Amino acid sequence: MNAAKGPVPNAGILDLAPYVGGDAKLDGFERPIRLASNENALGPSPKAVAAYHALAGEIHRYPEGSADELRHALGEHYGLDPARIVCGAGSDELIGLLQRAYSGPGAEVLYSRHGFLMYPIGAQAVGATPVAAPEHDLTADVDAILARVTERTRLVFIANPNNPTGTYLSAGEVARLHAGLPSNVVLTIDAAYAEFVNRNDYEPGVKLVDAAENVVMLRTFSKIFALAGLRLGWGYFPPAIADVLNRVRGPFNVNSAALAAGVAALNDTESVEKARAHNDRWQPWLNERMAALGLNPTASVGNFVLPHFAETGKHTATAAFAFLQSRGILTRKMNGYGLPNHLRITVGTAEETEKVAATLAEFMGS
Ligand SMILES: Cc1ncc(COP(=O)(O)O)c(C=O)c1O
Repeated sequence: MNAAKGPVPNAGILDLAPYVGGDAKLDGFERPIRLASNENALGPSPKAVAAYHALAGEIHRYPEGSADELRHALGEHYGLDPARIVCGAGSDELIGLLQRAYSGPGAEVLYSRHGFLMYPIGAQAVGATPVAAPEHDLTADVDAILARVTERTRLVFIANPNNPTGTYLSAGEVARLHAGLPSNVVLTIDAAYAEFVNRNDYEPGVKLVDAAENVVMLRTFSKIFALAGLRLGWGYFPPAIADVLNRVRGPFNVNSAALAAGVAALNDTESVEKARAHNDRWQPWLNERMAALGLNPTASVGNFVLPHFAETGKHTATAAFAFLQSRGILTRKMNGYGLPNHLRITVGTAEETEKVAATLAEFMGS
């Protein structure tokens, strides 16, 4: 025994680069414009805020551990069987639980090259090997994913639409992906931005989950439902996978404030419609502004845009990021995604969105 040696974590953990969230603070600005985390610019539903406050005197109690009321509200809202819904502390937790339950040392976890970073991070956290499939036009490529399936593949993750690219796969393409996977591989369709999509050929994943035993759909309250700070996500699962996740999750994994505010936010259709209409107006507007500046943004269908800057010279993404910061605007660098020449910019309020576009126009003209 070597007494000088300290505890050693499991394989893979020290190799992973922790997820770095978007900046929230900016020196010199008391209230910077925060366009770095794809939050809902319009703020939380007043009904959710009221539910949150109403709970304050009860926080000495444990939450209701099965999220019964919220699962039934979700079931009614989306026409789903509540028994097949599992809630989590953000969909991040559910991504981690899927990794813990179905992957591990020796397993491979497949994802699209510019897919959400929590997929490879979650794989490394459980000692599995993340495998990135190349994309075309910053869009997931079904054939490239299928070509990388091996006998060690346990999980395939796609975000649809994807963060940070904003691109999406049609229902037909997702079905083709599923059809090409062995039945022991779990296909996770992460539809965090589903509510923002208005394309006829899009489907968030419900139909495939209903039709197969190896497909799951993840959703979140952090985006259109505007509850990112409370950490609330959910998924719709085949019964056997729901059972597995209910075994591995903590007994009180979702806090009582999130449960109460979640039900209220879900039922506040007016706030959701407002957020959707806001995005319908301002996201294409911002994307067009980026295109007009020659920044070749992706065809994003989320609540964010991804402009492409020059690799060298005055107008790089790094220079744009710094210029925006100097004007009190926070955006997201994409180096961690292997996209050092892009910035991800969330649609803000009308004023914020106009300001970021005008500031970038000034930067490009400088
Ligand atoms: C594609 C995708 N999945 C999951 C998440 C995590 O969401 P949550 O806040 O529910 O953990 C995000 C957050 O940005 C996301 O973009």
